[in-house]
Amino acid sequence: MTLWGGAFKLPPDESLRRLNDSIGYDRRMYAQDIAGSIAYAGALVRAGVISYEEADAIVRGLEQVLEEFKADMFVYKEGDEDIHTAVERRLTELIGEPAGKLHTGRSRNDQVATDFRLWVMNALDRLDAQLAALQTALIDRADEHAETLMPGYTHFQPAQPIVAGHWLLSYVWMLARDRARLADARARTAVSPLGSGPLAGHPFGIDRATLSQELGFASCSQNSLDAVSDRDFAAEALFACALLGIHLSRLGEDIILYSNPALSFITLDDRYSTGSSIMPQKRNADPMEIARGKAGRLIGNLTGLLTMLKGLPSTYNKDLQDDKQPTFEAFDTLDLLLPVITAIVATLQFNTGKMQAALGDDLLATDLAEYLVRKGMPFRQAHHVVGTVVREAADTGVKLSALPLERLRELSPLFGADVAAVFSFERSVASRDAIGGTAPDAVRRQIETARAWIANHKG
Ligand code: ARG
Repeated sequence: MTLWGGAFKLPPDESLRRLNDSIGYDRRMYAQDIAGSIAYAGALVRAGVISYEEADAIVRGLEQVLEEFKADMFVYKEGDEDIHTAVERRLTELIGEPAGKLHTGRSRNDQVATDFRLWVMNALDRLDAQLAALQTALIDRADEHAETLMPGYTHFQPAQPIVAGHWLLSYVWMLARDRARLADARARTAVSPLGSGPLAGHPFGIDRATLSQELGFASCSQNSLDAVSDRDFAAEALFACALLGIHLSRLGEDIILYSNPALSFITLDDRYSTGSSIMPQKRNADPMEIARGKAGRLIGNLTGLLTMLKGLPSTYNKDLQDDKQPTFEAFDTLDLLLPVITAIVATLQFNTGKMQAALGDDLLATDLAEYLVRKGMPFRQAHHVVGTVVREAADTGVKLSALPLERLRELSPLFGADVAAVFSFERSVASRDAIGGTAPDAVRRQIETARAWIANHKG
């Protein structure tokens, strides 16, 4: 028996059922569906649509259904097309007639939109907490390595010395923007569609504002046609997840590169790296490769949803049923990834000797040009002079710092004996002390700012 079979002579064919049913995945929203129905029963009483006794029976029955789901004892039956029909069918078995009054003025269209928003709000909160934990792990490690020198790269070519803490903190700010996006998406998700009916609105004068508050929404929707078909909130959440995935893929790539034996800057803890079944020496950064790969699926979840939404005519269309799987998958993926990434960061071994050893004099070429600038030479000219110095050092096979002063003075009389002081990686990083720079002092201030951001952020 379906809940909508009255006008049909024949039941749905088995093949249609398999195609049409969403119970296989939307059962995950049982808690939201039941919470929505309990609140809705209250709204119906207040509107005088059902009696207090009927509402009481409905609420008790729903609480029992909830217990069945929680205990994994809920028995699905044929015709349980989706979570909404399954809950209502079971409620009817438990309490009989009053169950038939619960759906008064309500449609699965406003019901599913409500359930899904509640689910996404919850998932956003969970994700936000996981990102806060990752940020904290990154900051804690940055604090330990506010003075640890390493090469900084552009185009993955050695560029300038930086401190390792500065590298770690760069991800803290990406995650801060991700969290701000999640908060933004959450604010637009927290708008209740319940009481919109199938499309045209509620005919029994329920108090939608109170109903939405009871369910934890910030407000209720202002247009019923929009309310039943709006999935912007899911698209925004999936965009935030996709961009987060991109950030995690970049962190993954850095960790993969820096842990490669060619660099050996870092070593992953045994618990979070994997070996090869044939090459005993291998220590692979598998979880970070998975992070890199999952970004593709997260982007796919977003583009799948957007493409499904494109061109839908007004109000609810069954296409919308395909909003859930990509959304569930995105949050599930991040739920699996984030605890591992956070643990990797927290347990990462920093091979500071290897980092230091990878610093070549060439990384100070910019500092050498800046030396000439401090003596009054325009930067463009200084860049050219130092270019000549770099080429000559390479041609003669000596380090930049080993070129004799006399030779430097031939290239520019501005070079003096004090040029020797330029060839210090510590001095180089310390000089970049403006806000956002890699100087240990600036990095410590950055850590303070980042910790304050986390303390003040309202998810
Ligand atoms: N399972 C449906 C979904 O996920 C519920 C809404 C069905 N509404 C309808 N008019 N058939 O979208």
